[in-house]
Amino acid sequence: MAKDRLIIFDTTMRDGEQSPGASMTREEKLRIARQLERMRVDVIEAGFPAASDGDFEAVRAVASIIKDSTVCGLARANENDIRRCGDAVKPAASPRVHTFIATSPIHMEKKLRMEPSQVIEQAVRAVKWARAYTDNVEFSPEDAGRSDIDFLCRILERAIQAGATTINIPDTVGYTFPEHFGRLIRLLRERIPNSDKVIWSTHCHNDLGLAVANSLAGVLNGARQVECTINGLGERAGNAALEEIVMAVRTRQDIFPCDTGIDTTQIVPASRLVSGITGFPVQPNKAIVGANAFAHESGIHQDGVIKSRDTYEIMRAEDVGWKANRLVLGKHSGRSAFRQRLQELGIVLDSELVLGKHSGRSAFRQRLQELGIVLDSEEALNAAFKRFKDLADKKHEIFDEDLQALISEQASDYVENEHYRLVSLTAHSESGALPYAKVVVSEEGKERRAEAQGSGPVDASFKAIDSIVKSGSELLLYSVNAITTGTDAQGEVTVRIAKGGRIVNGQGADTDIVVASAKAYINALNKLHSKLERVNPQV
Ligand code: KIV
Ligand code: ZN
Repeated sequence: MAKDRLIIFDTTMRDGEQSPGASMTREEKLRIARQLERMRVDVIEAGFPAASDGDFEAVRAVASIIKDSTVCGLARANENDIRRCGDAVKPAASPRVHTFIATSPIHMEKKLRMEPSQVIEQAVRAVKWARAYTDNVEFSPEDAGRSDIDFLCRILERAIQAGATTINIPDTVGYTFPEHFGRLIRLLRERIPNSDKVIWSTHCHNDLGLAVANSLAGVLNGARQVECTINGLGERAGNAALEEIVMAVRTRQDIFPCDTGIDTTQIVPASRLVSGITGFPVQPNKAIVGANAFAHESGIHQDGVIKSRDTYEIMRAEDVGWKANRLVLGKHSGRSAFRQRLQELGIVLDSELVLGKHSGRSAFRQRLQELGIVLDSEEALNAAFKRFKDLADKKHEIFDEDLQALISEQASDYVENEHYRLVSLTAHSESGALPYAKVVVSEEGKERRAEAQGSGPVDASFKAIDSIVKSGSELLLYSVNAITTGTDAQGEVTVRIAKGGRIVNGQGADTDIVVASAKAYINALNKLHSKLERVNPQV
């Protein structure tokens, strides 16, 4: 018998974006949306259109380009939010409006200041307004995890009668436990007379580290949609991680009566893209997408894996998009891993090494296509090719990761319509001497120079840039990540700065990490300068 489909609803660009510092521009959302579609996510929640004109435009842009996934927007249960949301998702091949109102006593009394009966009437009106825009309407009783079950039954029955097609049960504050959450889904389905008319969905937050476990308990009790985010991004401690949900269901088909339609080989690229755009690094031991998720260190484990992978592996790294299973050599490695590693050192991995300095435009274009990277004009391709040639002059071997970083950087520079541009940078560091940096930055085409000392060359270059830009911003985060292995690897730098309540991220990549840092800082300053208004939707 065919198994049920488990609908994967990605909310990286809505709930995920609500993590402080993770707000995204329209172009960043478009890049993420394309990757989610490539991964065959069923529903993409692209934003909260009533929150700002910027988010309205971003949701509308996503709705206009995505063909294979449903595009959804979030709206509070009021007419204005629903109209904005309905208009924003209208261009989608398959639009959805998701409306919500709080149902827990604490939220109704202290936040909404409404009587339960008023909340029910408002929910019914909201679902009906939403139905005027689309027949695909989702309703969420916010803080359901702390709501009274009898009240939930009353309001959800009415929401279904009003035309909701999906009922989503949010554990908004991450308060529930798997047994409790699973039972909640089961009881709602059993007690509500028209429960069979809708798809039941979970939306679990991770405050107690239980978001994935709670969502899966919901699935085992009849939920057929899971709301989740790439890398578990989301409010506070985040949401259920998409990669963990998908791989748990796929790996334990002996337990789950359903399966997803996700192309799991797109998981690691999606994780990298989201981490790069938001500047939220993935911890090395994070399940599925952490750098060590498939790395075996202990000699006994390495020996086992070499003899037969299933001794220590329940999933294959390549199935989630890792290039090859990595065997790390360390003090615990045994002879057999050592022998294999020696052999590997003499082998060139053709599949990983993609382009070199003599590669031409057509090889470059073809590789981009293979990676699913779409450049919308010849001009963009030419600009990317030039960046590639510049990089190939510094670095002999260009890997897929280098290409992805290069395209990200280009997209990010292009979008922000460079007000500032790094023209040149000289940094000097010598043991025993104070490092200094000289920079030339062009501001709207006019070159300006400055120099400064600092505790290191990065610090000195930031100070020099600041003496030109005088942004008055506060540096919240600076992180460097090597894109590939080897000392000639490109360093990818993320800088997060804040000013007047706005938080933006900048990225830069270069084989010289001081240059990468300066590029990232300039990129963030351009974003701060740009008029693209981004607001945290729930503020
Ligand atoms: O956590 C939550 O309750 C939400 C709802 C808006 C679905 O994000
Ligand atoms: Zn949420």
